[in-house]
Amino acid sequence: MLPPLFLERMQALLGAEYPAFAQAMQSHAEAGLRVNPAKIAPQDFVSRAPWPLEPVPWCAYGFHLPPDARPGRHPWHAAGLYYLQEPSAMAVAEALAPRPGERILDLAAAPGGKSTHIAALLGGTGLLIANEIHPQRARVLAENLERWGVTNAAITNETPDRLAAHFGAYFDAVLVDAPCSGEGMFRKSENARQDWSPATVQACASRQDAILRQAARMVRPGGRLVYSTCTFAPEEDEGTLARFLETHPDFEVLPLPQKAGFAPGLPDAVSGAPVSLKGCIRLWPHRLRGEGHFVAVLRRVDGAETPLPPPAKPRLPREVQRYLQAWQAAALHGTPLEGSLHLAGRRVYALPLGFPDLSGLRVLHPGLWVAEVRKNRIQPAHALALALKPEDALRTVHLPAQSDAVLAYLRGESLPLPGEAGWVLVCVDEFPLGWGKRSGKQLKNHYPRGLRRPFR
Ligand SMILES: C[S@@+](CC[C@H](N)C(=O)[O-])C[C@H]1O[C@@H](n2cnc3c(N)ncnc32)[C@H](O)[C@@H]1O
Repeated sequence: MLPPLFLERMQALLGAEYPAFAQAMQSHAEAGLRVNPAKIAPQDFVSRAPWPLEPVPWCAYGFHLPPDARPGRHPWHAAGLYYLQEPSAMAVAEALAPRPGERILDLAAAPGGKSTHIAALLGGTGLLIANEIHPQRARVLAENLERWGVTNAAITNETPDRLAAHFGAYFDAVLVDAPCSGEGMFRKSENARQDWSPATVQACASRQDAILRQAARMVRPGGRLVYSTCTFAPEEDEGTLARFLETHPDFEVLPLPQKAGFAPGLPDAVSGAPVSLKGCIRLWPHRLRGEGHFVAVLRRVDGAETPLPPPAKPRLPREVQRYLQAWQAAALHGTPLEGSLHLAGRRVYALPLGFPDLSGLRVLHPGLWVAEVRKNRIQPAHALALALKPEDALRTVHLPAQSDAVLAYLRGESLPLPGEAGWVLVCVDEFPLGWGKRSGKQLKNHYPRGLRRPFR
């Protein structure tokens, strides 16, 4: 049941539109998926997918799913071919519109919906720092970016103020997909409905003020600050931005294109809000096929340049270099690992060129996790398997999506597989899923233990 006080507030906000809104709130939540263009072209995916898919008009990679589809249980999901995301949430990275080569910070990134989308739009260029304050959620973020096969991202587990002190005005774009009262998720989440109260709205608004203040410090002059929530509460949308703009005259609102179904921001719902906030977008469930969302893009018009963090100084001891070269020669064609290799503890990472130094920050992964050093040998990382193409590997096995063998692999079982001994890149159809190591007539399973589960 929807909180009665919430409905009263919506009636006051929406006036004549309220009956359509109230009706939409009674129907099912919209489900969607976003295709990973680094792995498969959207049209190819549509023609092969086992579910009927309808395009999301505001996202070239986005598709509506029927409510009874179970795409999280398909082996293609484990191969990172798509991310499950409701359609309105896809408007955020589209509004941020990453340009090739940009440096982007996703400040509140877990579980990774916007980060995977930003990575897709960057197309492997530039860099993405995906940050999440809560350690457990940061691990989920890392898992999702790993599955996506991202090669140009670092994952941090930091507070906004510590990041701002480290980076200064470093980024071309900073996204604050803020923690909010979640009214736009009421159709999807019983918890969101139960946790809601006017006091939550107020508490979220003041937390958003604090996060935005730190986010602003990290936007380079001329750069963008993107703010989004999944709530309808004006206190957390136009209100948060009005309070921010009052104290940050160096930022202006960049009007967003009002695509079909989008609605403008509602500055009149907040006292003293500038009319420029009409340039934000509101996504309402009674106006389009999606949940509730709010998106705004601000530009930092001027402001001081600040000292930036120095570039990272990758370090790979000779001995580890030798192990890695030996492993590469025995498992891969050529040298598909790009970037500078760096040893952090026992893990080897590929850092994209020009990556900043992250010393002093809590970092889960400073780049693409390539391998782990074990005694005198190399164990390839799962993240590497998902970032490779089948043609990069010397030995591959292609298990059809409908086969029992692929399900057995995802459950962690060994597979009968005669052939040459060595590391094998296991693929579902033509998409890498993980590693196996063949000896005798068996393929020993190296799919990570934490990911193993029955898939159907
Ligand atoms: C709306 S969710 C982000 C969703 C994510 N961007 C996505 O698309 O998958 C907001 C995130 O903000 C984080 N958060 C909570 N308090 C925070 C704070 N004080 N500073 C920064 N992030 C915070 C939450 O842990 C949560 O992961």
